[in-house]
Amino acid sequence: MKEESRVQELLNELLPDDPEERAKTLDELDKLLMRYESAIREIRTKVEILNDELSLTGDQNPIASISSRRKKLSGILEKLKRQGFPMTLESIEENLTDVAGIRIICSFMDDIYKVARMLQQQDDITVITVKDYIAKPKPNGYRSYHMIVEVPVFFSNEKRPMKVEVQIRTIAMDFWANLEHRMRYKKDIEAADEIMDELKECAENIAATDTKMMIIREKIRSGSLD
Ligand code: GTP
Ligand code: MG
Repeated sequence: MKEESRVQELLNELLPDDPEERAKTLDELDKLLMRYESAIREIRTKVEILNDELSLTGDQNPIASISSRRKKLSGILEKLKRQGFPMTLESIEENLTDVAGIRIICSFMDDIYKVARMLQQQDDITVITVKDYIAKPKPNGYRSYHMIVEVPVFFSNEKRPMKVEVQIRTIAMDFWANLEHRMRYKKDIEAADEIMDELKECAENIAATDTKMMIIREKIRSGSLD
């Protein structure tokens, strides 16, 4: 089936048949997606402000880069369907935690925890879940600090808490995750097992290097070379 008609089919499941109701729901859907985009902007601004503040006190920006994305409508509908959730607008907000996603890339491992803690402490942020794949890496070697947070977004006549998935990792972890991600779509290639072993080994090396880099940074800071 063509990609487009698949999305249309899923969208039809979500939309009521009555033309008037249908138009209303489409409108609501647009608003919902806009709210997620606003939530991303809220978190992004918070992170940028933290970065500015931390770079005044430290000797370098703790955050190397920030990227974000709002899951596409097709991805949202596919995920609801795949996971067997009701095809409704409420269900999107209730069941999906990764419609809004922001990825924060730090140079050093300890900055990950610094940034995470500072976000968690802000009184308009509610932490829903934390998954620390740095303390407890995935079996494939994946490392990253994940949290789902809720942030209120203010509109003309209401305030809505919106969920945002925040991923925080080092440059090296990000490098690894991007390559490993390519493997996911190529499970059928020959030597997949071997590649996965090699990736796992790289993940261990990267973790060791990330730790060493912090130690070296401390030595440079204190001016000692022993
Ligand atoms: P979903 O796959 O999004 O449903 O994730 P989940 O509900 O199991 O949550 P989790 O926090 O484990 O993963 C969220 C996101 O982190 C994923 O969508 C990926 O972007 C990323 N991620 C998690 N595990 C891996 C991994 O093993 N490799 C890579 N490259 N990315 C991962
Ligand atoms: Mg996801």
